[in-house]
Amino acid sequence: MQIDKKNIPETFTVKIEKLSNLGLGIAKYDGYVIFIPDTCPGDTVKIRMKKKNKTYGFAEVLEIIELSEDRTVPYCKMQKVCGACQLQFISYDAQLRYKKEIVEDTMHSIYGNPVEIRDVIPSPLTEEYRHKIQYPIGQTKDSKRIIAGYYKNGTHELVNIKHCPIQPHYCDEIIDYIRNKAQELKISGYDEKNGKGELRHVVIRTSYENKKNLIVLVVNTEYVSNPIKLLAESIYKDLDNICGVSVNFNAKKTNLILGEKTESVTGQNYIEEVLCDKTFRVSAKTFFQVNPPSANKLFNYVKEYIKTNFEKPVILDAYAGITAFGICMSDSAEKVVSIEEEKASTKLAEEVIKSENITNIELHQGDAEEFFRTQTQLGREFHITILDPPRKGCTPESLDYALKLTKDKIIYVSCSPATLARDLKILTERGAEIEYIQPFDMFPHTYHIENVAIINLKNVCKD
Ligand SMILES: C[S@@+](CC[C@H](N)C(=O)[O-])C[C@H]1O[C@@H](n2cnc3c(N)ncnc32)[C@H](O)[C@@H]1O
Repeated sequence: MQIDKKNIPETFTVKIEKLSNLGLGIAKYDGYVIFIPDTCPGDTVKIRMKKKNKTYGFAEVLEIIELSEDRTVPYCKMQKVCGACQLQFISYDAQLRYKKEIVEDTMHSIYGNPVEIRDVIPSPLTEEYRHKIQYPIGQTKDSKRIIAGYYKNGTHELVNIKHCPIQPHYCDEIIDYIRNKAQELKISGYDEKNGKGELRHVVIRTSYENKKNLIVLVVNTEYVSNPIKLLAESIYKDLDNICGVSVNFNAKKTNLILGEKTESVTGQNYIEEVLCDKTFRVSAKTFFQVNPPSANKLFNYVKEYIKTNFEKPVILDAYAGITAFGICMSDSAEKVVSIEEEKASTKLAEEVIKSENITNIELHQGDAEEFFRTQTQLGREFHITILDPPRKGCTPESLDYALKLTKDKIIYVSCSPATLARDLKILTERGAEIEYIQPFDMFPHTYHIENVAIINLKNVCKD
């Protein structure tokens, strides 16, 4: 029986048992679950309850009584202040073990059937791995000094970050230059509270392959003002390895970083990245995995799986982005068909297909579910469907269509264990068998984890 929350003391000592899917330590008091930030399984801590819900609560640490042996010293001085790397105080090996447990626990609670979860494939880099940098820009209240950084954990208080060790080191210099130059040009930083100020964000897309950078200045206007144009031109002229500067217009009061429209001010509007020996183009809004060396492992893994198990299959690459899977797999396939809703990504895929002289890819732009429906009506079939939807996962209708369209295997790639578990449950109810889940660490020091699920359709009834 669940303990009544009234009987839970205000302060007491607990041992942390697990890590939650959001990276919080979990302890129990007579079966009542308590989430405690900044703790690691194995820690013994004295806590104070902060919030008590009916079946679970939240607490803060008053005193660490015993440290877990999985703890380490974070290599970033700002780790406690900045909200980005919640797990940096846990050794990397332990992070990988806990991430596997997070996938196991999520599958257990949402999917509900036994499933093999393999050991997490580590990221080749645990520092300087993040190749998409998005700094909010603001200014100090009194001196109006431009600041750029990340929000303090759980708040909207901007921390001016001079050095971020999970990003390539040269990004610090780029941001520093932009801070100073924007100040010199009297460009104002954005104020979230009143929606005023011109420069909202700076986004850097930096290439792991050739270290070139595309800078995107996100502005709170619908045009390129003179100072912003001057800023863009100075960045291009004064800094090394800048391949282009674009301006993105976002004058809406929204949490979304990028607005609909982007204009290239100088240089090119994309960087180049290599996956499975194919060179891709990535522009301001393109989806591309932020950790390219880890992405390369994942893409090569899927490629090898297909090469080992199929002879020249016909592959459907759905939620394709720049058709990264389709293009990487094209050498091993008879044909690849891709579907992606974003026009700009489909156009970039078209350019790569041309430059790589690939002749067996059919690109489609539009909504995946609608595309699946029309392809089902046409009686089309694929040996393999790769599903790589956004965090929210697939609709049940899309999954039903995918089952009809696919003869042998679905390879489901997901950045959200919870929606993956939900969708695997639906697929299993229709007769699919989950062979196993292979997690990849794309995001060291955060609770995020990417998974590849291999799904066998031999027992699925198609009628
Ligand atoms: C997680 S990304 C995967 C992209 C690609 N597979 C890759 O690895 O680079 C998901 C992609 O799905 C696209 N998308 C989102 N909703 C969609 C929909 N309803 N129909 C088609 N594509 C969609 C997004 O634009 C994005 O490019």
